[in-house]
Amino acid sequence: MIQLIDPALDAYSEKHSHQPIPLLQELEAYTYKHCKWPQMVTGSVQGALLRMLVQLTHAKRILEVGLFTGYSALTMAEVLPEDGSITSCEIDEGNAAVARSFIDRSPHGHKINICMGPALETIAGLDGQYDLIFLDADKENYCSYYDQLLPILRSGGLLIADNVLWSGRVLEPKEETDHAVVAFNDKVSNDPTVEVVLLTVRDGVSLIRKK
Ligand SMILES: C[S@@+](CC[C@H](N)C(=O)[O-])C[C@H]1O[C@@H](n2cnc3c(N)ncnc32)[C@H](O)[C@@H]1O
Repeated sequence: MIQLIDPALDAYSEKHSHQPIPLLQELEAYTYKHCKWPQMVTGSVQGALLRMLVQLTHAKRILEVGLFTGYSALTMAEVLPEDGSITSCEIDEGNAAVARSFIDRSPHGHKINICMGPALETIAGLDGQYDLIFLDADKENYCSYYDQLLPILRSGGLLIADNVLWSGRVLEPKEETDHAVVAFNDKVSNDPTVEVVLLTVRDGVSLIRKK
């Protein structure tokens, strides 16, 4: 696994970015103490990036694929207007229970609607278009999600895909998941209907704008 950035620079970046509110700090600490694979939590720098993008795009309808313990959903909800909404897909009841316990304590929690079940099925049943979509679930299905999500992203809307560097494994893919992330990145960069920038933030974040 490649360390993408010097940990000291990571800490510097964290210190000089927007600071998360105490509830989010508590959520991150709780996740590290009690949950399996806590490193999946979005964390403060990527959280600051998400809230910046929500504000810059003036997004009102957000779809999230992969709620986990709710860090990214709560971060985005904080800067959404009162009539904004986040639909968040999650398959694991334990993760959703933790997320709910923190969402219930947030004054912005009412903007978040959790949809339980396999996200491909949930998305197939959604109505309307979204301004911003955050893709952060099972990497094996990233290409299938892309095919499903682009039609429900409005023109000019933003799709944010996480873990697109997959800890550097995209350079020498071995496992099925590695190949899935490579296939996703190739698909997006060859798609003339979108414009993309792959940022080397954390585990790689692609910003994909639908033309
Ligand atoms: C990387 S975590 C999401 C992190 C989250 N966005 C955050 O900020 O903390 C991925 C989540 O996707 C969920 N997931 C995995 N496969 C799924 C599927 N097929 N449908 C819905 N959720 C799924 C996992 O249970 C996990 O909670």
